[in-house]
Amino acid sequence: MPLFVVILAAGKGTRMKSGRAKVLHNLAGRPMIQHVLRTVDALKATKTVLVIGHGADEVKAALGGRPDLEFVVQSPQLGTGHALLQTEPVLVGKSGTVLLLYADVPLLEAGTLKRLLETHAGARAAATILTTVVEEPYGYGRIVRDEAGQVQRIVEERDASGEERGIREINSGIYAFSLAPLFESLHQLATDNAQGEYYLTDLIAMYRQRNLAVATLCLDRADELRGVNTRVDLADITTIMRARKNRAVMLAGTTLDDPSTTAIDDDVTIGADTIVGRGVALEGRTTIGEGCRIHANVRIANATIGDRVTILDHSVIVDSTVADGAAVGPFAHVRPGSEIQQDARVGNFVELKKTRLGRGSKASHLAYLGDATIGEKVNVGAGTITCNYDGETKHPTVIEDGVFIGSDSQLIAPVTIGKGAYVAAGSSITDDVPAEALGIARARQENKPGWVAARKARRPAPKNAPKETR
Ligand code: UD1
Ligand code: CA
Repeated sequence: MPLFVVILAAGKGTRMKSGRAKVLHNLAGRPMIQHVLRTVDALKATKTVLVIGHGADEVKAALGGRPDLEFVVQSPQLGTGHALLQTEPVLVGKSGTVLLLYADVPLLEAGTLKRLLETHAGARAAATILTTVVEEPYGYGRIVRDEAGQVQRIVEERDASGEERGIREINSGIYAFSLAPLFESLHQLATDNAQGEYYLTDLIAMYRQRNLAVATLCLDRADELRGVNTRVDLADITTIMRARKNRAVMLAGTTLDDPSTTAIDDDVTIGADTIVGRGVALEGRTTIGEGCRIHANVRIANATIGDRVTILDHSVIVDSTVADGAAVGPFAHVRPGSEIQQDARVGNFVELKKTRLGRGSKASHLAYLGDATIGEKVNVGAGTITCNYDGETKHPTVIEDGVFIGSDSQLIAPVTIGKGAYVAAGSSITDDVPAEALGIARARQENKPGWVAARKARRPAPKNAPKETR
């Protein structure tokens, strides 16, 4: 039976108090709507249709990389029934099942949706409603059942009688519908309700009158059905998602020193016996190997980290790779396009940008290495700077295997330091240094013996000079 998924995302999200479309707000590392889309991916639907309205262009642009999605614009937004009706041009004439979801209910799990679809198929229902029982049903549509326990209708908070408001079984707003009677029925919805909207929920009473079967699946955990209406919801749901991921990561063999301060995005993978410190953020498509130690307050985004890598506190690694056995930090900044090869070391206050640091090479202290290709077993002294930018263009620096760069050197690019060469400390290197040579480029030192005494003799003693007590 073909499955069509419809995701409603046209609403304004007034309570977010935001200029952005609600469904694009970041939730645990990705736009809210991406969570729902990911869940839907597991269902292998024939087609997924997004109903957009407020911020339609913005939403479309954000999902441009998904040509499998079909967009339908609902304007103006006249209610949930009207929203679903907008998909008629896409779905008319098709047979199968429509699964209706909201883009702002991001915790929903694929397993739950599969159960909903199974219930729907098993009952040969025209509609199957996902429901749950909550302590405080305020604001939700209530499930009204007859004495036999059969669903009669759904009544919205604002249209409910006092007695109906006491019902604690609520409508999640998520349903499975059979396509056959759907659109013809949607056309008959009216707006004679408190909000003057086309309520999708009115379809239930209509189906019952026509003796079409309506089934329900009642979830015992309401958590999954939480929607995002405010930024408080956004934060609460982020916490739930973080906890889910942390749990999965720990069960797969990673130690988290303090899960409550650890933020690991969904797509991150971590090998066994890696230990992650307090306040660490692992973002995007980051992969971390086995037996690594990531110390406190490190941020790693879209990076690939090998096995047995040590990353010391307060380091940032973005869009880069770090190979097995390497060490980074503390306070290192590894910027996009960098590659730290096996057993290499990047020490404190070292910044790398688009730079390859070869196997076993070290830049242990206070350096800037940009647009550089550095070979194996190179020693980059403290305070070394690649001067890669002339104000207009970036230039490359090549440092071949086994080179020793003395401390506080500037390598003015483009420049190549040949294999095994030495650069004397404090040099400003403007020309290539041949292999095995010493490059030295600094003013020669001159010592002036007796200079201090001569100076004193030339000048009167300063006013508040220290008294000679000895
Ligand atoms: C709806 C249900 C209610 C249910 C609740 C669960 C109706 C009439 N009521 O109420 O029974 O308990 O969800 O959260 O269906 N949307 C559009 N276009 C519109 C209107 C809404 O795309 O014209 C989208 C919104 O972006 C949102 C979703 O539909 O994602 C729900 O809309 P909302 O107005 O929040 O419905 P509720 O009043 O909460
Ligand atoms: Ca809502």
